[in-house]
Amino acid sequence: MARKHFLSLKDWSREEIEGLFDLAAGMKADPTAWAEALKGQSLAMIFQKPSTRTRVSFEVGMFQLGGQALFLGANDIQLHRGETVGDTAAVLSRYVDGIMARVFAHQDVLDLARHGTVPVINGLSDLLHPCQALADYFTLRERRGPLAGLKMAYVGDGNNVAHALMFGAVKLGCAISVACPPGYGPNKLIFKSTAREAQKLGSPKPEVTNDPMAAVAAADVVYTDVWASMGQEAEQQKRAEAFQGFRVTPEMMAAARPEAVFMHCLPAHRGEEGDAAVMDGPQSMVYDEAENRLHVQKAVLYTLMGGAS
Ligand code: CP
Ligand code: NVA
Repeated sequence: MARKHFLSLKDWSREEIEGLFDLAAGMKADPTAWAEALKGQSLAMIFQKPSTRTRVSFEVGMFQLGGQALFLGANDIQLHRGETVGDTAAVLSRYVDGIMARVFAHQDVLDLARHGTVPVINGLSDLLHPCQALADYFTLRERRGPLAGLKMAYVGDGNNVAHALMFGAVKLGCAISVACPPGYGPNKLIFKSTAREAQKLGSPKPEVTNDPMAAVAAADVVYTDVWASMGQEAEQQKRAEAFQGFRVTPEMMAAARPEAVFMHCLPAHRGEEGDAAVMDGPQSMVYDEAENRLHVQKAVLYTLMGGAS
């Protein structure tokens, strides 16, 4: 599969995504077989925002593939002092074999891809978090087998994770219902884009509602994320008020299908977007999702940087 960047699931076909899942499953089953797959290669990791999972899973992932990862924190590089994204991308491309970036403005990952000459991976932008959605659907596939026909309910803020899950759903043939308080729904352009993709691919059209109980009805997955994302800390209080009624509770889980699972990208705030009884309960898959970030990202790295590209 020849593919230059991993910026959005919008750019990847169902077959390509399923191919990443198959590769990730193989890597997870037998990691040592891939110990030299990216031998001698380097990944630059730009972080404009904090991270636990993304940083560690990419760094460990590169190590397990025989390469290395360089952590470039927001304050460590000249980007912080006004060097352009374009110059940063062009220069890093002379040293490393791939760039992973966690940014505020989605335009920054687009610009890294445009000005650099190596593959770029979106490790979260204000608009999208495709690595997370990839890990989540992989986790669901491990649990339930083929994904087409399953229903995801996303309850909470119509944010980067929600957007990425919407693209994943339409690519993989899942239904998705996104329940948000008025004024906190998904980006309208993203909604339109996913609706167009759904029509093109014959997938269910994503739904957006203000009624969480309607969203979780007949759902196979109930998903939530923080009410205030990184960069929105000043809105925390206002959001906490606006999101009353959108906490995932045991009652909400009971309104989904009996075999439904609970998902959250983490980090989580127990008692805010989800009750501790749900997050730590038997339906919760949150640590499997976190683990699978490692496996699916290794598949992405190998596909972009290894022999398959
Ligand atoms: N889910 C996720 O991306 O976590 P981090 O912010 O810890 O990387
Ligand atoms: N929506 C959250 C996801 C964190 C992984 C944020 O952007 O902060």
